Amino acid sequence: PGDTEMDFLRSLFSRTLGLSPGEKVLDELSLEGVASYIQSGKCKNVICMVGAGISTSAGIPDFRSPGTGLYANLQHYNLPYPEAIFQIDYFKKHPEPFFALARELYPGQFKPTLCHYFIRMLKDKGILKRCYSQNIDTLERVAGLEGEDLIEAHGTFHTSHCVSQFCSKEYSMAWMKGAHPHFTLRCTQTAPLRDIVFFGENLPSRFFTSIKNDFPNCDLLIIMGTSLQVQPFASLVSRVPKNCPRVLINMEKTGQVQLFAAGLLGFGGGLDFDSDGAYRDVVYLSTCDDGCMALADLLGWKAELEELVKREHAAIDSKDASKKDATANQSSECSDKSSPGPEARKSDYQ
Ligand code: OAD
Repeated sequence: PGDTEMDFLRSLFSRTLGLSPGEKVLDELSLEGVASYIQSGKCKNVICMVGAGISTSAGIPDFRSPGTGLYANLQHYNLPYPEAIFQIDYFKKHPEPFFALARELYPGQFKPTLCHYFIRMLKDKGILKRCYSQNIDTLERVAGLEGEDLIEAHGTFHTSHCVSQFCSKEYSMAWMKGAHPHFTLRCTQTAPLRDIVFFGENLPSRFFTSIKNDFPNCDLLIIMGTSLQVQPFASLVSRVPKNCPRVLINMEKTGQVQLFAAGLLGFGGGLDFDSDGAYRDVVYLSTCDDGCMALADLLGWKAELEELVKREHAAIDSKDASKKDATANQSSECSDKSSPGPEARKSDYQ
């Protein structure tokens, strides 16, 4: 059916099932409307939902952007299909592609973006309820979010543990960066060594406990840099109250309702920017950095945000190089005494 028919069907179903839109909270469905809502003082609990698009300006590719996304650039790993690199069953048999990629993308070489610091500003202003991130690059932490502020739904590269029941030693990021994949597997027998979530694995339990308390009390949902294609993360957009405004800052529109029938199956509540019944969702099509700067400007926070980015980036730049070396030289010995060092050759395990 065409758009008009879909809108008609939607509103018919809404009325029939009593799913009428909630109360209109924003004066207007625009970034200006969002800014004046934040300034009104009624918006005390902001939740951010973010994905790979918030880190692309730091130099980390996203997954699905045509041409530049990671999934379009994995040919040299000879994967059966791109997502296999993060598929747990594939990884157990072929860990090499993941570890090779991990070395390329390992935290430490990237700086948080303006968007990351905008989220930090929400925290500093006392209105950030929580940031739900799908990213494993740790840039939210580097930007100043602390444990309680952040749910790393797909895990993190910040910590790595050997999952061997005889070991479970924590490994530093610097060590992991240099680790040889085959050493890792030998150390842990069959289980991988890392703290990130693969497809086919459960999300951290903290994700599920937090969403129960956070989302029903959300006053504003800010969604940035995500294609909203991966569940269960994507479905979080439907967990805020019916009248809670949701703003998407992204290069493309995502998370829209595809089929009203999906709503009947329990996957409803997708974003609605354009239908006649749209009443709370705002889209700002731009880079995350530009969108955050535009919002900061409307809020009168622009100079403060620019200053924060400048100060934090300068602090990162001036970090003592010798400190990095010290981290890199930290003990790398696994408690599995039979394991050779990370420099062991592949042939040692064949
Ligand atoms: P995707 O690559 O699927 O989506 C990134 C989104 O950000 C796209 O909609 C881009 O258009 C947009 N984008 C890219 N750069 C941007 C920029 N500078 N400013 C604004 N928007 C930009 O990444 P995710 O949605 O994060 O899962 O992917 C979700 C999950 O799929 C990942 O966590 C990962 C992946 O497979 C696992 O590894 C388990």
